[in-house]
Amino acid sequence: MEPQALKSNIVLILDYGSQYTHLITRRIRSLSIFSLCISGTSSLKTITELNPSVIILSGGPHSVHSPDAPSFPDGFVDYVEKNGVFVLGICYGLQLIVQKLGGKVAIGEKQEYGRMVIEVVKGSGELFSGKIVGDKQVVWMSHGDEAVSLPEGFEVVARSEQGAVAAVENHHRRFYGLQYHPEVTHSPKGMETLRHFLLDICGVEAGWKMEDVLEEEIKVIRGMVGTQDHVICALSGGVDSTVAATLVYKAIGERLHCVFVDNGLLRYKEQERVMETFEKDLHLPVTCVDASVQFLSELKGVTDPEKKRKIIGKEFISVFDAFAHDLEQKLGKKPTYLVQGTLYPDVIESCPPPGSGKTHSHTIKSHHNVGGLTKDMKLKLIEPLKLLFKDEVRELGKILDVPVSFLKRHPFPGPGLAVRIPGDVNQGNALDILRQVDEIFIQAIKDAGIYDQIWQAFAVFLPVKTTGVQGDQRTHSNAVALRAVTSQDGMTADWYYFEHKFLDDVSRKICNSVRGVNRVCLDITSKPPSTIEWE
Ligand code: XMP
Repeated sequence: MEPQALKSNIVLILDYGSQYTHLITRRIRSLSIFSLCISGTSSLKTITELNPSVIILSGGPHSVHSPDAPSFPDGFVDYVEKNGVFVLGICYGLQLIVQKLGGKVAIGEKQEYGRMVIEVVKGSGELFSGKIVGDKQVVWMSHGDEAVSLPEGFEVVARSEQGAVAAVENHHRRFYGLQYHPEVTHSPKGMETLRHFLLDICGVEAGWKMEDVLEEEIKVIRGMVGTQDHVICALSGGVDSTVAATLVYKAIGERLHCVFVDNGLLRYKEQERVMETFEKDLHLPVTCVDASVQFLSELKGVTDPEKKRKIIGKEFISVFDAFAHDLEQKLGKKPTYLVQGTLYPDVIESCPPPGSGKTHSHTIKSHHNVGGLTKDMKLKLIEPLKLLFKDEVRELGKILDVPVSFLKRHPFPGPGLAVRIPGDVNQGNALDILRQVDEIFIQAIKDAGIYDQIWQAFAVFLPVKTTGVQGDQRTHSNAVALRAVTSQDGMTADWYYFEHKFLDDVSRKICNSVRGVNRVCLDITSKPPSTIEWE
């Protein structure tokens, strides 16, 4: 999906590195307005090509006085004024506006971090229009510098209790600034202010819907893929690749060829279950390749986690390559395109903001490991979800009739159960034990009606034998661990608080029905310090 292909009304966010920047994008999208976030140091050409109606300059960790302070490009002010583009600076963005337009920013006498009360000082300002002078609200501040003198024509419309500038504007020139973060929930009236700014002041139309995204996307794919071109897609059984494939199938039908690889590291009955959804519910043309013997034999004796991941990646590429070559034989021509379920956060992660210390490198999602297979095949990428967040992909999936139960599935890592068996995946009957334990645990979570409250739940096979007593026998069997976490995005996570009765029932059921397990442990660590997976 190219941004230009989306209807006008784009709210463009120039990212200067604040930890909240992507939250602004999401918040604006939640108002049914399309917003897009690009680097704060993007060229004027990039900005003008997107033709935004509003530009938001984000916060960031810099001081406008530091020599490497990031800024908008030369000609920016001229461009926005000539084209009637509205500009809102948030935190660092406000300071950038003040400094670049002729005002003064200095190190604040009192630095303001956290919850603060601000007060509207002018009834005439547009940002808080309708509010009487003296109206107070709690906001979330995070700044050291402050605006001490404003550019000509600007007015202070709100101040903090300490007297610092909290909001400014020059509505004739269409420049506005908030020293606080309206996008965070700690600013309870922040969303109301953002909504008022975008809809009432800027006149943006709130009509962005997933149905439009779908329609637009189908148009883009049909325009891109020639009528004789063929497209391939690796399905992982996850939400992203499934929605991407379903969308492309809607656009080009049987010229899409999908492959699902059973690498021997899948969950209990995973192959049957996902193939049934692909074929019966989604009517996708999918070839299932059972490569489990190949994967497991390559993994024999390998204990190093990174080596395991690399082997799995390499094997996957070889299976996918073989699939593509078989297809070429069958069709008499090479497939031209490859579908990837890349999401917006993956794109963002590969384009870090200025000052983050990370370098710009566009890396495609690694878990299908398809990055290395295009060398001789020269496949062009179709990434229909690359501007969407996960919840938006789920919404799109719903419109495409992907079963809701499928869309709500917990994430499952590309290397599968290999990262849930520390050490050699071939040890004893670890895979078999793990599948059974995992199935009991997940089914119990579903039965308890708590599956949707949990980001990810799974079992881990522990490579230790412990002593037990089962029946009248002493046993020397394996221990397993249960892990369930809540999370927003998998970057940080908290362990899920189960009721004791639930844990008691599950533990009993596992030990009674899975041969080879005599102990069940619960993982009660958050991330950090742990990761979600055990390897
Ligand atoms: P960690 O263990 O890093 O996991 O806290 C965060 C999220 O990423 C998933 N994960 C992976 N997904 N390939 C993947 O496709 C991998 O190698 C991989 N490692 C972890 C994990 O399941 C969780 O959702």
